[in-house]
Amino acid sequence: MCGIVGIIGREPVAVRLVEALKRLEYRGYDSAGIATLASGRLERRRAEGKLRNLAARLETEPLAGVVGIGHTRWATHGRPTENNAHPHASRRLAVVHNGIIENFRELREELTAKGHVFATETDTEVVAHLVTDEMDGGLAAEAAVAAALPRLKGAFALAFIFQGENDLLIGARQGAPLAVGYGEGEMFLGSDALALAPFTDSITYLEDGDWAVLTRDGVSFRNAAGETVSRARQRSQASAFLIDKGNHRHFMAKEIHEQPEVVGRTLAHYLDMSNGCVRLPFELPFDASKMTRVTLAACGTAYYAGLIGKYWIERYARIPVEIDVASEYRYREAPLDSSGVMIVVSQSGETADTLACLRYAKQQGQKVLSVVNVATSTIARESDAAALTLAGPEIGVASTKAFTCQLSVLACLAIAIGRARGVLTPERERELVSDLIAVPGLMAEATKREPQIEQVAAALSKASDVLYLGRGTSFPLALEGALKLKEISYIHAEGYAAGELKHGPIALIDEEMPVIVIAPYDSVYEKTVSNMQEVAARGGRIILIADRRAANEAAIDFQAVVAMPDMAPDFAPIVYAVPAQMLAYHTAVAMGKDVDQPRNLAKSVTVE
Ligand code: F6R
Repeated sequence: MCGIVGIIGREPVAVRLVEALKRLEYRGYDSAGIATLASGRLERRRAEGKLRNLAARLETEPLAGVVGIGHTRWATHGRPTENNAHPHASRRLAVVHNGIIENFRELREELTAKGHVFATETDTEVVAHLVTDEMDGGLAAEAAVAAALPRLKGAFALAFIFQGENDLLIGARQGAPLAVGYGEGEMFLGSDALALAPFTDSITYLEDGDWAVLTRDGVSFRNAAGETVSRARQRSQASAFLIDKGNHRHFMAKEIHEQPEVVGRTLAHYLDMSNGCVRLPFELPFDASKMTRVTLAACGTAYYAGLIGKYWIERYARIPVEIDVASEYRYREAPLDSSGVMIVVSQSGETADTLACLRYAKQQGQKVLSVVNVATSTIARESDAAALTLAGPEIGVASTKAFTCQLSVLACLAIAIGRARGVLTPERERELVSDLIAVPGLMAEATKREPQIEQVAAALSKASDVLYLGRGTSFPLALEGALKLKEISYIHAEGYAAGELKHGPIALIDEEMPVIVIAPYDSVYEKTVSNMQEVAARGGRIILIADRRAANEAAIDFQAVVAMPDMAPDFAPIVYAVPAQMLAYHTAVAMGKDVDQPRNLAKSVTVE
């Protein structure tokens, strides 16, 4: 995480650095800072907290200079104080860093023994001292970076500027993304193309191990062996407009309401609506009729989407699916054979653990299909085929529209694989496709429950713990509902499989405990009713998300019923995600929380 940017220009860069950082704030917002070269001298401004604090600081203490670097931080090593904020500097250089230097302790000891004095608690500061040490030994800036990089272990993207070097900016990439942007007589570095979109749409992505030497007139690339290499230049699709909230108070609210449209767009990309079948816009990179197993790996919300995908792939394609959170899977040394395939799911396409699973599967000879929102991301580029979710940029840290688009794509993949394996008849495929076509309209209908959900949320905001229950595909949605609530309201929430309640968690139920039950009218509905009876018998306060038929049949005294439109149950999680997201959103708003930038979180998790 953390966002980095660099500009080597002709005009003053401070304002543009902040503009680029604004577009990177989704990567972290614990502190921010910039450094520029003003008349050949390095100067810094840094501020704790959100970027607006840095911007305010720059109003009163502006920075001159036409070469500069900037950083927005998600703290890993060291508290989010101003002193720990990037850029880190020595008398020779300033550096910004995204990632973790894993061997920073041993490097710090070595450099301290040589007389270097460390001023921060960060891992990054060793990079500044290491390169400085090489320069003190007589190397020029570029050679010093070349000597230092092989000594760094871990994942990083770095950008350097140097005292007295008015025409030099160096970037390096190992496991964290970095892009070079081309301007007219100026050059740029950024964590992604979105950050550089106001300045250029002409981009080169560094490959792992690459480093780049930028001057005003161009760039040269070196690989990890120090050889000069060429890297393709491409047009970025990232929009230069500062993405705005429209009429909504928060990005999250806007993104929740956008879902009928973006899910509709995504489904239109994967469905042949007139013939009632799935038509994938790419070739499957494996022979679906011969594969023996699917392994799914992802993190957080994307993992819950994958979990629902597992139910669908097993049901419609009759193939065993194994799924794990990517941070566990990558170290499990799970046996994989070439007749299986891996599917990874990721909004950002940069999540370090998910990327590691992709690489592991490829090493084991498996084909990898990614379900990914950012088409230019590392995961999209490294997978054998990328199934794009057309959610558009997701700015709210809590994922909403990316989740429902992931579900839409996974549903289409399950159907396509089922057809290829001869499991689904054309009639059954037509039925399922017609159910999917109805989904965006049902989601629009679900958004109309917002006034009622706001009332339920007002009560929920007083709770200190909340349980979410669901069965079948509603179980992963219960997990996702609980995640949404805890990440933006900070209320402790847990999701459970409804049938699992009596094996322990039921001990938590009392009159104080709100229990949110997600129960579409599906084949396991009656079982869920029995579980609700168990909760009601113990005084639990049940908030039911279900259609009216289901609510009436249950004949339980609910605290509230969020009435959903009637629908065929197969793809209910896509529609039922809407009230779950709204409930978390309005609870957090009622509590006055920072919905779009919740504490301790970042949108793109490029560290382990
Ligand atoms: C929660 C959330 C995270 C992400 C997770 C994976 O609202 O957004 O749990 O889902 O960090 O991120 P991606 O999908 O970018 O790989």
